[in-house]
Amino acid sequence: MSLFRKKPLDGAVAPEGEIHGGDTLGRHLTVRDLTFFGIAAIIGAGSFSSMGEACFKGGPGVVLLFVMCGIACGFTALCYAEFAARVPASGSAYTYAYVTFGELFAWVIGWALLMEYSIGNIYVAFSWSGYFTNLMEGLGLHLPEWLTINYRSASRAFAEGTAGEGLAAWNNAPRLGGLRIIFDLPAVAINVLITWLVYVGVKESRNVSNAMVILKLAIIVLVVFVGAAYVDIDNWTPFLPNGFGGVMAGVSAVFFAYIGFDAVSTLAEESKDPQRDLPRGMIRSLVICTAVYVLLALVLTGMVNWSQLDVSDPLAEVFQLRGVKWMLYIVSIAAVVAMTSVLLVFQLGQPRIWMSMSRDGLLPKKFASIHPKHRTPGFSTIVTGLVVGLPIFFTDESFILDFTSIGTLFAFVLVCGGVLLLPQRPREKGRFHLPYFNSRWTAPLLLVGVVLLLVMTIPDYFPGLLDIEGHAAQNIPQLIFWPMALLLVIMAHLKQWSLIPLLGLLSCSYLLTGMEVSNWSWFSVWLVIGLVCYFAYGYRHSKLAAQRP
Ligand code: ALA
Repeated sequence: MSLFRKKPLDGAVAPEGEIHGGDTLGRHLTVRDLTFFGIAAIIGAGSFSSMGEACFKGGPGVVLLFVMCGIACGFTALCYAEFAARVPASGSAYTYAYVTFGELFAWVIGWALLMEYSIGNIYVAFSWSGYFTNLMEGLGLHLPEWLTINYRSASRAFAEGTAGEGLAAWNNAPRLGGLRIIFDLPAVAINVLITWLVYVGVKESRNVSNAMVILKLAIIVLVVFVGAAYVDIDNWTPFLPNGFGGVMAGVSAVFFAYIGFDAVSTLAEESKDPQRDLPRGMIRSLVICTAVYVLLALVLTGMVNWSQLDVSDPLAEVFQLRGVKWMLYIVSIAAVVAMTSVLLVFQLGQPRIWMSMSRDGLLPKKFASIHPKHRTPGFSTIVTGLVVGLPIFFTDESFILDFTSIGTLFAFVLVCGGVLLLPQRPREKGRFHLPYFNSRWTAPLLLVGVVLLLVMTIPDYFPGLLDIEGHAAQNIPQLIFWPMALLLVIMAHLKQWSLIPLLGLLSCSYLLTGMEVSNWSWFSVWLVIGLVCYFAYGYRHSKLAAQRP
């Protein structure tokens, strides 16, 4: 059972001044800063890049998916908030899993979060580079194609004979021996710059991030207002051109847009009053961003026909198509600013999770070392820069997007499940407290309601799942989900579970069914590698292992 050894709830927070010779993180952040950090982390490549793919797959009905993801993330944010109020430590979901499910699960979550923070940042860096290059073009500065695209995309363009930037890069790239030199220079450069900023201090990062959030929100409000004037309501019909399946095919892209509110919880040890402010920061930022996304999706699908949105820069594309040229620069500037702030917060989050894992003995000690002058986790920050920077040379966007979303959803499922296992606690003034609604009858009623709604609105939904022919692999996640949902609802009835975490668990699990089976295979391989690392190092070096008699 030592695999499931748990940290005590009150032992999860590192005592002030006792980390590595008294070097602690600086406590500078207020609730306003945390809300801004949340918005900084949420609005980025999801709205400026991947939203196009989702609108193309789902049509105007993608708005439903934004609402669904907003609700799922809302329940999850409440669960994060409950944990953050109890365990104000930097490790975020990793630490939460350690106190509820035990060490093995904690490790798995820490490993999955690597996909959210580091791998996610690779996608954002690629998207950043796309908009940045456009902006430079507009200013008359042309970078050669072989310096603005990744190697895989260029070699694929060559193999498929697709004319465009990729093929131009392949044909014109200089060679070193037999190897073509093709890499995304702006993506690499922004990663180096962000790593440096995060290395030199959280106060500096906060000031830069707050300024970027104000600018990006102002420009997005402008986009919504100007775009609304060009909306043609005929573009909203048909609402579901590719059915509900088309909408669900956009899960990775839409969910990616929401990722980030949870990054606020990694700043626990730099917040002035984490137990009060972290929950507020997460929830406020999520509410603001959900409203922004629903409006953006309505404007986007209203301005042009959904079939024109299969592009990597949809917000610029709609203004281009409607001939509003002056908005193009503004959108590109907003995109560059928005994505820079996402990069910044994620690059702040990853080292703090590693720092917590290292303090627990699951990673080497060096990962917890704090820079004596800057008071940031210096070594972990540099390793994060490398983990984001090196794959930029040999991966591409689409693979990264799916990988990030599946890893993050997986972590969210475990956080919601973890709250179900927490003991009740008395209310304390000034601290967030997750309201308890008994799910004994509400959960079964909701399940029956949802099933009836599905049967009435999409009559062949359930028969379609059982129609194995040709769809066997695609349907597996759904065929696992529905019996699991039934089982959870029965458990909720018997154990009188709290309704909010249960709904978070169910809604995030449902979103996971939108992931393709091939993504699940990659994810499984990733988890197996993680387990090998755990048994090779963490299991033996864990502080809890040392405590055993
Ligand atoms: N939600 C973040 C973005 O869209 C990851 O860039």
